[in-house]
Amino acid sequence: MLATLSPQPADALLALIKLHNADPRPTKIDLGVGVYRTGAGDTPVFGAIKAAERVLLETQSSKAYLGPEGDMGFVHALIPYVFGADFDRSRVEGMQAPGGTGGVRLAVEVAARAGAKRIIMGTPSWPNHAQIVAAVGLELKTFKHTTAEGTADLEALRAALADAAPGDVVLLHGCCHNPTGVDYTNAQWDQIASMVQGAGVLPLLDLAYQGLGEGMEADAYGLRKVLAAVPEALVAYSCDKNFGLYRDRVGAFYAVTGDADALANAMANGATLARASWSMPPDHGAAAVRIILGDAALTAQWIEELAQMRGRMAEVRGRLAAAQQIGPINMAPLGHQKGLFSMLPLSGEQIMALRERHGVYMAGSGRINIAGLTTDNLETFIEALRDIAG
Ligand code: LMR
Repeated sequence: MLATLSPQPADALLALIKLHNADPRPTKIDLGVGVYRTGAGDTPVFGAIKAAERVLLETQSSKAYLGPEGDMGFVHALIPYVFGADFDRSRVEGMQAPGGTGGVRLAVEVAARAGAKRIIMGTPSWPNHAQIVAAVGLELKTFKHTTAEGTADLEALRAALADAAPGDVVLLHGCCHNPTGVDYTNAQWDQIASMVQGAGVLPLLDLAYQGLGEGMEADAYGLRKVLAAVPEALVAYSCDKNFGLYRDRVGAFYAVTGDADALANAMANGATLARASWSMPPDHGAAAVRIILGDAALTAQWIEELAQMRGRMAEVRGRLAAAQQIGPINMAPLGHQKGLFSMLPLSGEQIMALRERHGVYMAGSGRINIAGLTTDNLETFIEALRDIAG
């Protein structure tokens, strides 16, 4: 039977990690997978996480199973950060998931069980979104995320929603759009909230980079606007970036509805799906987040560490934007885009030339990880871009 299997392409983003590691050139630059790096090129464990891990080591008395929903202390501690301090707690419940991917997978599967047939999504998007939708067996309807001017295309979303049918879900990136870095403005979110409500579709908000754009509160603006307007919604959340816990896989899935039975059933279905997929999510990282959010000093330390990350990314963006024009590439918009990513309009040949001639590794879409640019390699990267596009 195994001989009937067809070969599969390696995941393009994850393959870049190995390709970069295998490159012997000391000047190589990794702008691939979305991992934050300091100006020196490191991805250190947050100080707040190290402190929480010490507490965990001292106080954890058992590693016995918790259940398919994971650490509910963690799930509930995040609620004020995601939904707002005065959100009506009776409308929301959640469960832990292995990373943002686990959160998206649960959300799409629960939507499918609730009768969803189709996901409406702006493209380009994180490639795993389409892959998860296909794996769950739903149809995908796409619309353009950005305009020719490089702003978020509200009219394309409006047209997609005008065409929506019962059973449709609209997937929206809460902030720090992956891969473009082009977020909806607050004024656009105000309109999106009523558009989504008017279309009667189920919103699925994916918030994987909260705090990496403008701050924890500001980055939740769109999500909160939409949730205030609609009767029900799903949320996929990741702590992998904003707590730097990548390989510990820390995420969550939330359902929002005023119907108490529907909320309980959304969670019961999520728990059944989790049990059949991974049984229980990994505990360690989520426990560390719970410890941080339950301690004012550790919370302040984490918020400060997040602010430092944003400050560094703003500095890199400023330096990229200052390059202004590289051949046909207008660099100025990178200065005000948000989060870890931006996209450069490069051809496949140019992306390969960057890799082969200059050891610069980026996604085939032209997406670059802003944080991969360090104090030392930023000018080298700009020179490499001038070489292939200038
Ligand atoms: C990315 O897009 O690089 C990150 O979200 C990591 C991942 O899992 O793809």
